[in-house]
Amino acid sequence: MKKEKLELKILEGREGEISEVQRVLEESPNYFINVSGDFPSSEDGKELFSAIAPGKEFQDKFVFGIYLNNYMIGCIDLCRGFPNASTVTLGLLLLSENHQRKGLGARAYKKLEETVKGWKNIKKIRIGVLVSNIEVLPFWKKMGYSEKGRKPYKHGDTETEVITLDKSID
Ligand SMILES: CC(C)(COP(=O)(O)OP(=O)(O)OC[C@H]1O[C@@H](n2cnc3c(N)ncnc32)[C@H](O)[C@@H]1OP(=O)(O)O)[C@@H](O)C(=O)NCCC(=O)NCCS
Repeated sequence: MKKEKLELKILEGREGEISEVQRVLEESPNYFINVSGDFPSSEDGKELFSAIAPGKEFQDKFVFGIYLNNYMIGCIDLCRGFPNASTVTLGLLLLSENHQRKGLGARAYKKLEETVKGWKNIKKIRIGVLVSNIEVLPFWKKMGYSEKGRKPYKHGDTETEVITLDKSID
């Protein structure tokens, strides 16, 4: 059987892209329940494009759409050179729930890692997993990540811990 076409495309925050990202976020309600205790808000798509790590410029922020046969099924948020010059922080990798657990997240992640490997001076990818979303930890371990530490995390009504993991990509 022919493998379905999976592609990552850099998004620039155009209106149509924001509404597609918003749709994909709304198609993954469990993630939002886990990390915020609530469903995604109508502004979350827009915020994915506007949120930026402290001290960083937009030239180092990347939002990708994950496309299956040219239809957006997921999104990625990345910050290059954060928290230090040789590290990329992966803020979010998310697939619509009806596309999860079919091997597509692993395929999308591998493409992302290949892209990041092409970036000058980058040696590591770092992610943070909230304990309230611990169900995704096995995925990251399978992608080659190892745990570096845990610290308390508070956002709105959510009080949990964040587990930092990283992977060397040298
Ligand atoms: C995390 C996520 C991107 C993984 O993508 P996915 O397509 O569901 O995962 P895959 O089907 O590609 O799984 C790849 C491997 O990880 C394992 N895995 C994935 N999710 C898992 C889970 N919840 N529990 C246990 N194992 C899991 C799979 O069993 C598979 O292992 P295998 O290769 O031995 O079969 C996806 O589930 C998602 O979008 N979740 C919601 C958003 C989210 O929480 N993102 C992470 C924020 S840190």
